[in-house]
Amino acid sequence: MLDRRKFLQCAASLAAAPPCASSAPEQPLRAHAAAAGILYGAAAAYGPLQNDASYAAHFAEECGILVPENVLKWGPVHPEPERYNFEPADFLADFARKNQIQMRGHTLVWHNQLAPWVATAVTKQNARRHLESHIRAVVGHFKGRMHSWDVVNEAVSPGDLRNDGLRKTPWLEHFGPEYLDSAYHTASETDPGALLVYNDYGLDYDEPGQEAKRAAVLNLLRDLKKRSVPLHAFGMQAHLSARQQKNFRPETLRRFLGEIAGLGLKILITELDVADQSLPEDAAERDRGVAEVYESYLTAALSNQALIAVLTWGLTDKYTWLANQNKRADGTPVRVLPFDRDFQRKPAWHAMAKAFDARAAK
Ligand code: G3I
Repeated sequence: MLDRRKFLQCAASLAAAPPCASSAPEQPLRAHAAAAGILYGAAAAYGPLQNDASYAAHFAEECGILVPENVLKWGPVHPEPERYNFEPADFLADFARKNQIQMRGHTLVWHNQLAPWVATAVTKQNARRHLESHIRAVVGHFKGRMHSWDVVNEAVSPGDLRNDGLRKTPWLEHFGPEYLDSAYHTASETDPGALLVYNDYGLDYDEPGQEAKRAAVLNLLRDLKKRSVPLHAFGMQAHLSARQQKNFRPETLRRFLGEIAGLGLKILITELDVADQSLPEDAAERDRGVAEVYESYLTAALSNQALIAVLTWGLTDKYTWLANQNKRADGTPVRVLPFDRDFQRKPAWHAMAKAFDARAAK
């Protein structure tokens, strides 16, 4: 084992000159993160983790924390009113345990990927019962085994034009704004040991819409804390894009995260990736552009000591939602994550390692 100082020196020199010519294989991202006092991990795709041995091996090697990309959302985990399907998430939990990887849960309350039955069965009269029993069942199943839960996801949308900034969702409509309090209280009663997170997106750039959303999110978090709701952390999704890099101001991000930490909340970067549609076709040039986004964002975010974890939304370009969502006009596959489709570390990987090492060296 290298001691910590030697490891940092080695990691810093390797990160400065990728790809490395050293005889020692470079430490995985989870080790760079650990040296900085944080966790690194990724969203896991259930099918590939079962069927693609190379993906599973790299996931186990690189990640200190895993979050299921889809299988714990309401639709997959609670497909019928009286039926839960924990099999896929149990498989991921087992994989995590065997590989000394922590696991986080995503997500209990969201307006997306709900089971179809919810639309007809949930009414004003029974919304509280449905929401609370779902949370009790899912959180209870993993009691004592989850690092953290995204209890409520994406509840803020200033564009929906409500004074409180809340998004108009089925839960808001049937239950009222107190659905948030109820969700956190129920999760806390069910698993008092889990870190309870509010998770949201669209908060990264110096753009008027994002400034309004930052203000609305801060209002929500402040109100929840004022009411002593058991909320412990904020999840910054960080779905970034090279196109918006011109609107990235480190001081804006630092100020926002500073205000969150000032509320006594921990911070997690929960879904980091970098859309590459605006970058040239040339892979090397594109990788440089994507890496620059990773590095500048993480360097700013990691200056906040309340930040405890960084997760990318996927590990390899082989499996990423952006392949469908953000297709490139030139038809080439997207290059948005730390590993390419052949599981080679990309400049984005080195940019992340470098940002982790810089925090470790402070
Ligand atoms: O499960 C069905 C499967 O049975 C069917 O064969 C297949 C055919 O298309 O579809 C499968 O469902 C898809 C699911 O991903 C699993 O692959 C859904 O159609 C598709 O909509 C779903 O997309 C997910 C999306 O959330 C849903 O809104 C993405 O994979 C997932 O990456 C994305 O993740 C979200 C976070 O949860 C919250 N933050 C934003 C982030 C990106 O949108």
